[in-house]
Amino acid sequence: MTKVLVATDKPFAAVAVNGIRNIVETGGFQLELLEKYTDVRQFYDAVKDVDALIVRSDKVTKEVIEAAKKLKIVVRAGAGYDNIDLDACTARNIVAMNTPGQNSNAVAELAIGFMIYMARTCFTPTTGSELNGKRLGIHAYGNVGKLVAHKALALGMKVLAFDPFVPAEMIEKDGVKVVGSAEELYANSDYLSLHIPATKETKQSINYRLLSSMPKNACLVNTARKEVINEQEMLKLMNERSDFKYITDIAADINEELMKFAPRYFATPKKMGAQTNEANINAGLAAANQIVDFIKNGVTKYKVN
Ligand code: 3PG
Repeated sequence: MTKVLVATDKPFAAVAVNGIRNIVETGGFQLELLEKYTDVRQFYDAVKDVDALIVRSDKVTKEVIEAAKKLKIVVRAGAGYDNIDLDACTARNIVAMNTPGQNSNAVAELAIGFMIYMARTCFTPTTGSELNGKRLGIHAYGNVGKLVAHKALALGMKVLAFDPFVPAEMIEKDGVKVVGSAEELYANSDYLSLHIPATKETKQSINYRLLSSMPKNACLVNTARKEVINEQEMLKLMNERSDFKYITDIAADINEELMKFAPRYFATPKKMGAQTNEANINAGLAAANQIVDFIKNGVTKYKVN
């Protein structure tokens, strides 16, 4: 029987798992679950005889692919697929997919929440400031960036964006000002919300040069990936500028060093941007449906390799 494994270090909400099970079993397949595993060897063992795999940020390395002798498809229930070794998948003819847009609203709401948290002095009674009238730069105008822009406009923020891959007129019709470079964006943003993926080109690209150009009292909001930040240069900037704030959903590798700047550095204990019932249901069920559609009908929509 065709087996589908859901392997999640950070499990989906139970309601999402039930929905995934229903789709998989209605399709005539068998569901297996590996949740909150503590050792990667449990993952190697669980993938041994499965045909399909659903993961979140779980690392699908070439070792996982090697262990998964029967694997035909892996779906990252979410947007970023930097956790999947696409070359290893392609070499074995394994289709890799993501589920774009399905958890975007949850992440966008967290980005707004982060801004309010920093503006209101980490929910302490100290005098804070308001988002209304402040400039928000959106770095990359994909599914999440666009939703953050819509919500920020409703809060009275002035929204700017930079995304060389999205036509300017598409961004402008949302009431967002398009700027011509990352340099221009950072230099003119009181808040900067990051939505770039982690790729060869973007890793460590958010550096001292960009960040130090931000205005006084600026705040960087990262609900994207830690890998895009040049952490040593971030450290240098935090040392130099006591007005600069950094809030992130993905603790830095140098978290302990940055913690000395708390509360103007804040990291969630575990990445939680997409951790809502709604996002789990949307992304989990989409992943299950994509697997059934692929195995039964050969549909490869959202293939990324
Ligand atoms: C994504 O790329 O979809 C988000 O970063 C969410 O990741 P998660 O599924 O690990 O919460």
